[in-house]
Amino acid sequence: PKDEIRFDDRVAIITGAGGGLGRTYALELAKRGAKVVVNDLGGARDGSGKGSSSAADKVVEEIKKAGGEAVANYDNVATAKGGENIVKSAVKAFGKVDILINNAGILRDKSFLKMEPENWDAVMAVHLQGAYNVTRPAFKVMKENGYGRIIMTTSAAGLYGNFGQTNYSSAKMALVGFMNTLKLEGGKYDIKVNTIAPIAASRLTEDIMPPDIFAKMAPEYVSAMTLYLCSDRCPVNGNIYNAGMGFFNRAAVITGPGVVLAGGEDGFPTAEAIRDNLPRVSALKNGKPYYQLNDQVGDAMTALMNPPSADTGDTAAPQAEAPA
Ligand code: NAI
Repeated sequence: PKDEIRFDDRVAIITGAGGGLGRTYALELAKRGAKVVVNDLGGARDGSGKGSSSAADKVVEEIKKAGGEAVANYDNVATAKGGENIVKSAVKAFGKVDILINNAGILRDKSFLKMEPENWDAVMAVHLQGAYNVTRPAFKVMKENGYGRIIMTTSAAGLYGNFGQTNYSSAKMALVGFMNTLKLEGGKYDIKVNTIAPIAASRLTEDIMPPDIFAKMAPEYVSAMTLYLCSDRCPVNGNIYNAGMGFFNRAAVITGPGVVLAGGEDGFPTAEAIRDNLPRVSALKNGKPYYQLNDQVGDAMTALMNPPSADTGDTAAPQAEAPA
């Protein structure tokens, strides 16, 4: 098609691309012309085991058979050295890095009191440190070239919560914070950072989802969004999108309009004033997804310039809604 989104002359690194979602991204990017580094250390679902090269090798074979270009890499994203090696292998094979999809992941689900430090640390190491370890050397190359597309992979478990996943939820939400700031640091160099929250049938989810739903959740239903965010057409920077089963929507941190509360006897607002105004403090109607810290501080300053009215302690401008 004439207006096809292509990735010719683009070099993409996809971590954890030996199976599941990462494999699908790798195949689709290669099909559209990208040169791909297929990283996967080939361990077990919980990150245990020595790993094997076969997962990444198989995907590279698939890409080559279809006429695409790819190299395998077996480094562990959880170490700084591993992250450097992954980026080095892209530069060595293809001369640069344009696209990085931080996708590698493991699970160690436990209810909170059973969540031993080793399970907490292992999940943090792969998801959070893993993204840091690969993104930093990749960002250096992207900055030099004045172009980059970086994808973080979060999860509904982090965005909204899921029983038994305090470790995973924390790591996945930390990646949103990582994106929030990195998008600002990369903007000047046309490096865009966005986040995908996928839902897909994979070995990470095979025992969590009912079999009939599992069948309708092929990872191929997710890749359209990831591919678009990786493309030179991508207009957004710092957004989060849910994607799965062909359903797509944006998720965001929304900040309500808020209310300025008058001070008590000592001039400071009281706990009782919070109690009495909680619905208005909590209201999200007309909330905003701020782009950066300064935007929120700016709105707080503006609200403060509308002095609270003496009798109610409310702002002069009535903007908050009754609670749901
Ligand atoms: P998957 O288990 O099929 O793929 C993850 C891959 O990462 C595996 O091939 C694994 O060998 C590799 N990997 C694990 N640790 C690694 C390390 N230290 N270094 C290099 N590679 C490593 O699982 P899936 O579902 O494709 O997951 C991909 C990403 O999507 C993960 O970040 C996951 O947390 C996320 N996700 C998946 C959801 C789903 O419904 N499948 C839901 C929300 C998020």
